Amino acid sequence: MIIVTIEVERQVKEAECLVALLTKKLTVTLELPGVLKEDERLYKYGETTFFYYESEGQMRKSMLVGLDKGTAALSNEELRCCGGKLAHALKTQQVAQAICPLQAVGTINEGKENAFQSFFEGVLLGDYEYDRYKTKQKSLLVTTLVMTVFPSDLSMVKTALDRAGVIVDSVKWARDLANAPGNDLLPLQMGKAALERFKNGVVEAELLKEDDLKREKMGGILAVGQGSKNPSCMIILRYQGNPATSEVLALIGKGVTFDSGGLSLKPGENMGAMKGDMAGGAVVLGALEAIARLELKCNVVALIPCAENMPSGNAFRPGDIVTAMDGTTIEIINTDAEGRLLLADAISYAQRLGATKIVDIATLTGACMVALGKVAAGVVGNEPAWAERLLRAAETSGEKMWQFPCYEEYGEMIKSPIADLKNTGGRWGGAITAGVFLKHFAKEIPWVHIDIAGLEMSDKQSAYCVKGATGFGTRTLIQLVKDMECSC
Ligand code: BES
Ligand code: MN
Ligand code: ZN
Repeated sequence: MIIVTIEVERQVKEAECLVALLTKKLTVTLELPGVLKEDERLYKYGETTFFYYESEGQMRKSMLVGLDKGTAALSNEELRCCGGKLAHALKTQQVAQAICPLQAVGTINEGKENAFQSFFEGVLLGDYEYDRYKTKQKSLLVTTLVMTVFPSDLSMVKTALDRAGVIVDSVKWARDLANAPGNDLLPLQMGKAALERFKNGVVEAELLKEDDLKREKMGGILAVGQGSKNPSCMIILRYQGNPATSEVLALIGKGVTFDSGGLSLKPGENMGAMKGDMAGGAVVLGALEAIARLELKCNVVALIPCAENMPSGNAFRPGDIVTAMDGTTIEIINTDAEGRLLLADAISYAQRLGATKIVDIATLTGACMVALGKVAAGVVGNEPAWAERLLRAAETSGEKMWQFPCYEEYGEMIKSPIADLKNTGGRWGGAITAGVFLKHFAKEIPWVHIDIAGLEMSDKQSAYCVKGATGFGTRTLIQLVKDMECSC
């Protein structure tokens, strides 16, 4: 665990480890004899180097973090990555106490406060670990990282740290939920986790149980969950940040707590990764928490349809026709294309709750991973200006998203000869036809869909993620609401 504090400059001597953020300017002022000037490699962006040096007869530790990319400024995302690398390096070297002069961060990026915030986000996210199920070898190390700043920057930097802390708490919660094994996070348990987390705050949390779903005729969710002995549910959250307007943003997240594929069973290899098929739902929960804690001036309703997709004697079948909440009939081609069925009902219900704009986020298609790799999320929308706002928020947050085209022809691919729609459009353009399927349910209101398949889990450590759930999307949703503050 890392505890970050901000102080005005003080004596470097007091710390076990001195962290130096290396821009060219700092290399001169630090005067660590013999080390910095001779080794150009040490300046490089994103590299961390650990070494001992002697000062006043004592051996001291130091950590160098390269912040120089040769370009004029580092982007916020690059600063976030450097922060993450610093956190990893401190942990690897088992440093209990470090001091880090932060002035460099403010000199290499134009938007000062955002630069500091990004750097802190990186440090705090880089500190994440999922060891809930380890009975031994839990990491007990507590690292105190004192960041020093000019007195004139103190309050600005503290604000940046507070904001980063709120956002990171939410991303970590989203990661924890997606990392939780399927046997410990059944649909109702996900619901309970939400009720518990929001019980004392300004966010109103409600759980629609299976009877409620039946009453509302949510045939999509019910079909997906009917093969499991664990009942489905829908989490509803309400946050009124701007009672003066009737604008309501709906955030919808796919909450499939385990996706076996159902009767269209997935191959066994890597099926375990499908415990993360509720990552979209987790991201929405996390985002809403941060939106409320940051007191953003926007009305938001969150909907997370939760179900477990299992094969059994009660399971829905290929060939079945199910009727969604809005009356649309859907021919089931493949029970593994379940996410869009749940989301269809959530999108209908969001409109019933008064939503004027919708964003949905889901681990929806393997086809999206084929198209964009584990690099960028796929975006499909029904209104260019609204999709554009989302893409801009993604850009600010450093989470990569790429919009797919939405031509008429894709719509033809999901028409059924015997029902209104079919639940897959075949292999080609699978990420787009899935999006176009959802578009049908958004009717006239601005809606945009984010397919995060492949981004919700990382198979290796990166700058500010470890192997496992990433919480990808949380920061973009928070940013989107922040950008919208005045208009909703
Ligand atoms: N949850 C999966 C998509 C997925 C794949 C998420 C890999 C994360 C990593 C989704 O429910 C699914 O199974 N989609 C099918 C749709 C197909 C049957 C049309 C797919 O992508 O294969
Ligand atoms: Mn599936
Ligand atoms: Zn799925």
